[in-house]
Amino acid sequence: MSTLVRPESMQRITTAEQANVFIDEQIKDIRNQVGDQKVLLALSGGVDSSVTAALLIKAIGKQLVCVHVNHGLLRKGEPEQVIKVFRGEMDANLIYVDATDRFLDQLAGVADPETKRKIIGSVFIDVFAEEARKLEGVKFLAQGTIWPDILESENGIKAHHNAGGLPEDLQFDLVEPVRILFKDEVRVVGKALGLPDNMVYRQPFPGPGLGVRCVGAITRDRLEAVRESDAILREEFAKNGLEGKVWQYFTIVPDFKTTGITDGKRTYEWPVVLRAVNTRDAMSATVENVPFELLQHITQRITAEVKGVNRVLFDLTPKPSATIEWE
Ligand code: XMP
Repeated sequence: MSTLVRPESMQRITTAEQANVFIDEQIKDIRNQVGDQKVLLALSGGVDSSVTAALLIKAIGKQLVCVHVNHGLLRKGEPEQVIKVFRGEMDANLIYVDATDRFLDQLAGVADPETKRKIIGSVFIDVFAEEARKLEGVKFLAQGTIWPDILESENGIKAHHNAGGLPEDLQFDLVEPVRILFKDEVRVVGKALGLPDNMVYRQPFPGPGLGVRCVGAITRDRLEAVRESDAILREEFAKNGLEGKVWQYFTIVPDFKTTGITDGKRTYEWPVVLRAVNTRDAMSATVENVPFELLQHITQRITAEVKGVNRVLFDLTPKPSATIEWE
């Protein structure tokens, strides 16, 4: 692990000019560190890994091998966007693995949230390790570690997630070009590198993805209801000026059905729960005051467009007593 620390005197990067100075320095450092060797990166499409990828592509082009694992729990359009931006626009060396069936088969019948998280984490490592073994001569692993990750792991708040867990036979030297940056700086650098706004300014999205929003044992049809309702919520928030204003917003589909009526016929289908919260650090959160007319419009769209859903609820609970996610 790199021991590079953020110098106390370092100015916060807020402008494109400052970002470009940082980018030029990093390009030099990356080239010095890796020479003509290959570098591997797990590219989730999140801000940190995307900015790390864009920096490395600029520095070493196709010496970077990006692996995008689709665990089937991504939001609508996400894998497509990763492919479009990195393969299509940046001409990256990108391996796309659709491991949806593998993840969903392993998760079938598993209702306990922590067991679900563990399965998602360990299948992810397996899939990534298999791809890494197929490649020859990779010496380096790049990670989108950022400064708060280092601070939090030093303070014991969270285990530093990225590197952990790769099997013994896969040991790499780490390349962590955004390691000394705060999140807001990573965004400024990403923008300067030409990444699209919806990638750079996107809301936090948990590693286990929609898996923890498809409450209880995941089924493919209910997961689809989570994905489609989430897409409608995001579209409506974007159209109505709430994207970028609300810290995190998403939908949840619990594992029970309720009665309803459509075209004069009784239905027995799932409810969708809407959640929209604001916070500084995710330790506590308040609920966004979403205009009632917008909630009604979203309800109308979700019940009309999402298969298997006949009811929509809005979660009014701050953190505490609730957590942000439902699992
Ligand atoms: P909670 O639900 O604990 O969430 O109030 C706080 C923030 O953390 C995110 N979250 C996760 N992120 N892996 C992640 O990478 C996880 O397992 C996980 N669980 C929750 C959540 O989305 C919120 O932003």
